[in-house]
Amino acid sequence: MIILGIETSCDETAAAVVTGNGEILSSVVSSQVDLHSVYGGVVPEIASRAHIELLIPVVDQALRAGATASGVKGATASGVKGISAEMAVPDVVAATVGPGLAGALLVGASVGKALSLAWGVPFVGVNHLEGHLFAALLDHPDIKFPVAVLLVSGGHTLLMSMDAPGNYRLLGRTVDDAAGEAFDKVARYIGLSYPGGPAIENASRGGDPDSIELPRPMMERGLDFSFSGLKTAVVRAVQAHPEIGTEDVAAAFQKAIVDVLCAKVMRAVVIHGASSVCLAGGVAANSHLREELTEQCDAIGIPCYLPSKEMCTDNAAMIAAAGSWQLEHIGPSSLSISIDPSMPIPML
Ligand code: KG4
Ligand code: ZN
Repeated sequence: MIILGIETSCDETAAAVVTGNGEILSSVVSSQVDLHSVYGGVVPEIASRAHIELLIPVVDQALRAGATASGVKGATASGVKGISAEMAVPDVVAATVGPGLAGALLVGASVGKALSLAWGVPFVGVNHLEGHLFAALLDHPDIKFPVAVLLVSGGHTLLMSMDAPGNYRLLGRTVDDAAGEAFDKVARYIGLSYPGGPAIENASRGGDPDSIELPRPMMERGLDFSFSGLKTAVVRAVQAHPEIGTEDVAAAFQKAIVDVLCAKVMRAVVIHGASSVCLAGGVAANSHLREELTEQCDAIGIPCYLPSKEMCTDNAAMIAAAGSWQLEHIGPSSLSISIDPSMPIPML
């Protein structure tokens, strides 16, 4: 089975071709970062317009590359303007239908439905967050269940137990800002570029994490997170010590947030008896988080699964993989399915 995945929930226009066995034949991600960075964050209207311009060429590129990788050529996926006729017709089209920016989601979901209709193949509407979980499964198909998953992205911070694909229990979540949002806001405050996560990670390399003292909010209790106080503490520390360099502030903030994230994951492992740990979402690309969590898992002898950095940030291969599973276990979506900007992850 060949799945075409489409992802347009935020500021990445992405398409990918994945097989039913989880082999990624192509994965194309066109980032809009340059369009948004001048505004210091994603501008929804600009994102939607860019998706409209970019999506068909990105799908075309993914299908051509997928056809080359699979050796399947010369089939008849014609009849769609802007898309090459020299490629195999996918067996299913999967597109993100939520959560995310309404206008951005509408572009991907509408194109996905139109392609499925034109080609006469099923459509599957995928939950973006579930897509992030499948990114980990794509890279680590032999994951040991139950796995404690930390899903940390620009809009979400969720700690879950995954007992099997499609089987999730919520263990903890942020009570205010998401971890990625905290990275982005702090970066903006200390004059670093958008997106803030990679900018803080780069700046931290030259900084002293102990240069300022920052709190570790809610670290000693429970499995929920809170990051807005940490952000305020950074602002106060910078106001009180304007002489401290950007690199030092970045390093101190990164250490504080990673300390909290790791402490919660390891507490979840103990409380819920997880057999392994895995990371998902854009913040999971952070090297300090990856190293620290791996070290703590090694110390208690359980595997720590880290998706490749490309699989952590938004991409369409993860949407195709989630769509493939969904088609097999739940079935296709109706073409009348609506987008849902605040769609929750389906928990038990
Ligand atoms: O999953 P994602 O690509 O998009 C959403 O679904 O939100 O996550 C984007 C978030 C942004 O807040 C970005 O700053 C953060 O992930 N991020 C990072 C890193 N790379 C991306 N945060 C920390 N360190 C990184 N290396
Ligand atoms: Zn995401």
